[in-house]
Amino acid sequence: MDGNGRWANERNLPRIEGHRRGAEAVKRTLAAAQKHGVKNITLYAFSVENWNRPKDEVEALMGLLNRFLKDQLPELIKRKIRLRVIGRFKELPQSTQDALRKAEAATAEFTEYTLGLALNYGSRTEVVDAIKGVVKAAAAGEVDMSNFLYDDLRPFLYTGDMPDPDLVIRTSGELRLSNFLMLQCAYAEIHITKTRWPDFKEADFAAALDDFANRERRYGKTSQQLQKA
Ligand code: FPP
Repeated sequence: MDGNGRWANERNLPRIEGHRRGAEAVKRTLAAAQKHGVKNITLYAFSVENWNRPKDEVEALMGLLNRFLKDQLPELIKRKIRLRVIGRFKELPQSTQDALRKAEAATAEFTEYTLGLALNYGSRTEVVDAIKGVVKAAAAGEVDMSNFLYDDLRPFLYTGDMPDPDLVIRTSGELRLSNFLMLQCAYAEIHITKTRWPDFKEADFAAALDDFANRERRYGKTSQQLQKA
């Protein structure tokens, strides 16, 4: 969800106003995803690197998130969307942890739609945490390291039982993944739009889906092999 700061700068507004309008775009996007039949969506809301931002911006972001969770929980329940948080949870402010746990518990029964929130998330910390989990499980004799495959690593990632993303949408024109679900996105298609996140609307979402629909996903095979199958 990139470009909140630039959106605000371009309008001589404080950066936090860009984030506030970004939270509105989150609501629009959730509705658009459901309307277009997208069952799993994960939003990169706060990276492990984002703690390096000015303290007042970090506090404002956590405040926006708390407000979003409070205001939108009835909407998530109404839409039957399960909330899942991925990231180093225990380093988040206590009030945010409490709001997240409450929303996760209140939506735990829903199985069709999932909203993932990447908070204090980074792929590299995720891998480190997964390795620690594997080492612990191996010491307890719970995993067989002699025959360990990528699928055996999956349950140790924050994403656990969540499916790998098919499509990554990055707003505001940057051409990088910025430590987002690097393992899970190994075969994801990437759609980059110049639209700033606060301006992101259903039409932008639909354009990303159209772009995705025209990709050939070869997973290492040749086009001819896919055409025969
Ligand atoms: C990146 O834009 C955006 C963020 C670091 C925060 C995203 C947060 C929200 C959209 C609002 C709160 C979240 C939820 C789920 C309600 P940037 O600030 O890096 O933009 P810039 O690159 O233009 O400066």
